[in-house]
Amino acid sequence: MKIVLAYSGGLDTTVSIRWLKETFKADVITVTVNVGQKDDFKKIEERAYVAGAFRHYTIDAVAEFANNYISYAIKLNGLYEGVYPLSTALARPLIAEKVVEVARQEKADAIAHGSTSKGNDQVRFDLTVKALYPEARIIAPARIWNMTREDEIKYAKEKGIPIKIESNKYSIDENLWGRSIEGDIISDPTAEVPEDAFEWTKQTSSDKEVISIEFDKGIPVAVNGEKMELDKLVALLNLKLGSHGFGRVEHIENRVVGFKSREVYEVPAALGLIYSHIDLEKMIYTPIELRFKKYVDQLWSDLVYQGLWLEPLRETLHKIADEMNKWVSGEVKVEVNNGAFRILGRKSDYSPYSEKIASYNKGWYPTDEMARGFIEIWGMHSLMARRVRG
Ligand code: ARG
Ligand code: SIN
Repeated sequence: MKIVLAYSGGLDTTVSIRWLKETFKADVITVTVNVGQKDDFKKIEERAYVAGAFRHYTIDAVAEFANNYISYAIKLNGLYEGVYPLSTALARPLIAEKVVEVARQEKADAIAHGSTSKGNDQVRFDLTVKALYPEARIIAPARIWNMTREDEIKYAKEKGIPIKIESNKYSIDENLWGRSIEGDIISDPTAEVPEDAFEWTKQTSSDKEVISIEFDKGIPVAVNGEKMELDKLVALLNLKLGSHGFGRVEHIENRVVGFKSREVYEVPAALGLIYSHIDLEKMIYTPIELRFKKYVDQLWSDLVYQGLWLEPLRETLHKIADEMNKWVSGEVKVEVNNGAFRILGRKSDYSPYSEKIASYNKGWYPTDEMARGFIEIWGMHSLMARRVRG
């Protein structure tokens, strides 16, 4: 039997290598997908082999993650329940797709991953595999073995597997779009999140900073006038905005599996770019477009969160996003200061905004007659309804 395992290098998946090998008498092929997490991929590969991997693949998918996934999270203002930029959720289908590519190449019988039975990640992973490689058996060791963290450490010691000494007591998931922090004291919704949970948003810069972000057809293409690829731009903004202590999200989240959980994220670039993009859209869209787009954005965010990347409607929503973002070009000027982010101004060649029309000081004013006529007819529905209701 041949099993391809999505391997992060952490405790769960390292123990999984040996467990899968022994339980299924299988060759275990490990795949680590780089989606922008700060890891030592050489070390991860070494660890995989020591734990018993038959073969290991490291796949660099950072640019693909930025250009095909994050780009839509920006175009569609992806925020689950209004606040979570979907960082973990967005990367799962890509990781699963890469693992499937290896599994097909290796003609593997099964695909394995480290998610638990309590999480959203299992749903995202399983459904992507089912869509792309329906013949594969899916094995999630953590859903089967019932080991606690202590059991896993004991198991690793017994088998002589060198595990990464995880100084972190939290469960961390990291990629270019954000850092998710769960577990330990965070599970107590009444307790303040301790400072040691944070890494990307420690305030190291005390001066406020003004940044200009240029968008082209919905995609950010330059920071302070300097053009760059999307992955580089996101990485830069994570550093810049994070250094002012901006980008923390803490909220009570409704998981796909039926319960609420307290979730903490560090997402400086994601929030900064989405807020800027929303602002620019408001400068450009008609009111009807704006209201329609809000609905599309929410629909997309729900699909991505809920593991339905494979849902055909998602591709339709991407076409809508491309079409509507054709006009979303321009520049947004923002300021970060002491954890706070605000928009200073924006401009776009496609904006119907007219200072001449909007200003109280100059230019166009409707005549008294025009204003009266408009108001009379505008309010007629409501006034007539009130009259007959007495
Ligand atoms: N609740 C978030 C989500 O569903 C974060 C999950 C974090 N995953 C993890 N393996 N630590 O997207
Ligand atoms: C997991 O259980 O795999 C992590 C949590 C989640 O998926 O929401």
